[in-house]
Amino acid sequence: MHVLADELNARLTGTAAQRLLSSLGRRLYFPRGIIAQSAEAKQAAHTANATIGMAYKDGKPLVMSVIADNLPHLNPDQTVAYAPTAGVEPVRLAWRDLMLKKNPSLDPSHFSLPIVVPGITAGISYTADLFLDDGQVILSGGPCWDNYGLIFRERRGGMLMEIPLFNGGPGLNMAAVEAAFREAAKTGVVRVIFNFPNNPSGYAPSQPEADALIALIREIAEDGADVLVLCDDAYFGLFYEDGTIKESLFGRLASLHERVLAVKIDGPTKEDYAWGFRMAFVSFGSLGLDAGGMDAIIKKYMGAIRSSVSCANTPAQHLMLKTMGDPRTEAEKEGYYQMLRRRYCAVKQVIKEEGDHPVLKPLPFNSGYFMSFRCEGVGAEILRRELLTRHGIGAIALEEQYLRITFAALDEDKIPQVYKTIYRTAEETRTAEGTKTAEALRNKD
Ligand SMILES: Cc1ncc(COP(=O)(O)O)c(C=O)c1O
Repeated sequence: MHVLADELNARLTGTAAQRLLSSLGRRLYFPRGIIAQSAEAKQAAHTANATIGMAYKDGKPLVMSVIADNLPHLNPDQTVAYAPTAGVEPVRLAWRDLMLKKNPSLDPSHFSLPIVVPGITAGISYTADLFLDDGQVILSGGPCWDNYGLIFRERRGGMLMEIPLFNGGPGLNMAAVEAAFREAAKTGVVRVIFNFPNNPSGYAPSQPEADALIALIREIAEDGADVLVLCDDAYFGLFYEDGTIKESLFGRLASLHERVLAVKIDGPTKEDYAWGFRMAFVSFGSLGLDAGGMDAIIKKYMGAIRSSVSCANTPAQHLMLKTMGDPRTEAEKEGYYQMLRRRYCAVKQVIKEEGDHPVLKPLPFNSGYFMSFRCEGVGAEILRRELLTRHGIGAIALEEQYLRITFAALDEDKIPQVYKTIYRTAEETRTAEGTKTAEALRNKD
């Protein structure tokens, strides 16, 4: 074990974070090499700073003129210079302020300064690097975003256990959630990833469901298990109904119990309509981590960043800093939110008009970008292909039985027609499949 890793591990002694670390997480540290020394020099090297691997002229990074011409409001430091490993400090501070504004139950003394990563995917993946080992179980709602399987199972060798989130009722299948948590707690450790608003269902918990989830986690921690909760808040803010949560679960989890380590992974990808920026934030919260412990976890996280992508995208960070500080942003975001909400309402309306459909059963949805149908009597992939080839409608087939529709990508006036076509095609496909099966059976006879 490297001496710096030993030092960080010592600072974490006795905390849930230390017990939850994977073997890679235990080995990780942030080197006192180029990055740390050049950060020091940035403050003190007044005569000449010859540390970082960048080329300068008159104190400014060199920049190609086509790049400069196309980013007229950013200077070379804000475009082509390396960003610090954990992100540009004012960007981190601005995002932290926004987190507090958007999540009133978040206690400012119990969560870290957000770390900048190149997208939410990267944030989930580095978190898994730190806290998930071969063969270890991580729970998730099912169906879930398909990338969880790649990250937790294929990359980290962990076991992704999907809890069936819905059982035909209007909300979460709380009995299944509780059973899965209690089963995992028997091992002394529960790891879980929450994603609300959810991909692919479009569901966010009601207030009582959120209270029940928090109470369950508190009880499990009080009974002696360590709990790692990742909050994938990719679609945060897009809540369309009065009765649902409006804050991230991280707000309460961050200061719930010493044995609970909460990790919030969020960012401008969907919240600020900046999908290609490739930047996101990772924040830690735990009652068991004092300032030294929090710093040790951040250093380990920086070790994960430094050893993979080195740092996130510089221009994206500076563009986001400007966006967060501009008075136009709030009203514009509200306008986009209302536009997506109208699309959501249009979808609700067609589904209501359609009533109980023999093939397509919508999963509960109230938020985010998506809604999904559970398909009965016809395979989701067969239906997807029919929609695409016969009607030019693109949808996503998941796990044989789910068809996901991104209503956020559909203009409001197209929604009734698109959904009617989906319903009609589902019925026709079921009839055609039924006829084929009957013929096949007859031929066998
Ligand atoms: C649940 C969920 N998490 C994370 C992401 C990816 O976010 P990013 O593009 O910032 O990596 C997505 C995007 O599709 C998503 O649906």
